[in-house]
Amino acid sequence: MAEEVISLRNVSVHYGGMPVLEDVSLSINRHDFIGIIGPNGGGKSTLLKVILGLVKPDRGEVRVFGGDPLQNWRYIGYVPQYSLFDQNFPISVLDVVLTGRAGQALFKRYTGQDKKLALSALEMVGMLPLKEREIGRLSGGQQQRVFIARALAAEPDVLLLDEPAAGIDSLMQTEFYELLERLKQIMTIVMVSHDITAVSAHVSKIACLNRRLFYHDSKELMSEDLEAAYQCPVELIAHGIPHRVLREH
Ligand SMILES: Nc1ncnc2c1ncn2[C@@H]1O[C@H](COP(=O)(O)OP(=O)(O)O)[C@@H](O)[C@H]1O
Ligand SMILES: [Mg+2]
Repeated sequence: MAEEVISLRNVSVHYGGMPVLEDVSLSINRHDFIGIIGPNGGGKSTLLKVILGLVKPDRGEVRVFGGDPLQNWRYIGYVPQYSLFDQNFPISVLDVVLTGRAGQALFKRYTGQDKKLALSALEMVGMLPLKEREIGRLSGGQQQRVFIARALAAEPDVLLLDEPAAGIDSLMQTEFYELLERLKQIMTIVMVSHDITAVSAHVSKIACLNRRLFYHDSKELMSEDLEAAYQCPVELIAHGIPHRVLREH
């Protein structure tokens, strides 16, 4: 039987009285690669923060590896939507990735093992040759890889990616999806995106979120779900591709 690693049951989140997530239930098994699509403001980033324990639901239950999210966050690697750092801050690629080994410690002396894991994470994302480069001098796509390496350095079982392909050019996107193909062999991935076409080509399951989650535990998306989530005819967002097109041929 599949091992459930994350579960949300009837989760609701409000910000100042405004519902952001409503009655969301989701079960994620080990080695799933789930794509979550939906319009801007639909609650996608909030959903990831609920899994991380950064946002507490008003109602419902969240379990991560059978326990409280905050107790089990070390199993989760997170690459936030926008990397919040000063582009001019003179820190090397390797140092950025090493911070992934810091865990909760604010000031930590890195061990040889930390360094080994950071280097192997850089190797995995193809950024080892640029390990001494200042992070601010990399392209958007290269920075994205470094932030993924930073998450990988913590040896997570689950990787949460929030709009990872946004703002990188199409050549880098191809390379990025090749990286995901490799990562999905070894870990569970939850990826938020609004690029339906790209997502559907790589994920094993797809969900559509706009305050409510439309999800059938499969890769198929019903046009009704898309329309309900986007509140517009599917043709407008999928260029007339009929439903079931997301199924693998
Ligand atoms: N910390 C916050 N305080 C108040 N409102 C927020 C906060 N974070 C997000 N929101 C609001 O919640 C809604 C969902 O946001 P978000 O989860 O970022 O959606 P998405 O990632 O799908 O674009 C939006 O209307 C956003 O403005
Ligand atoms: Mg977001």
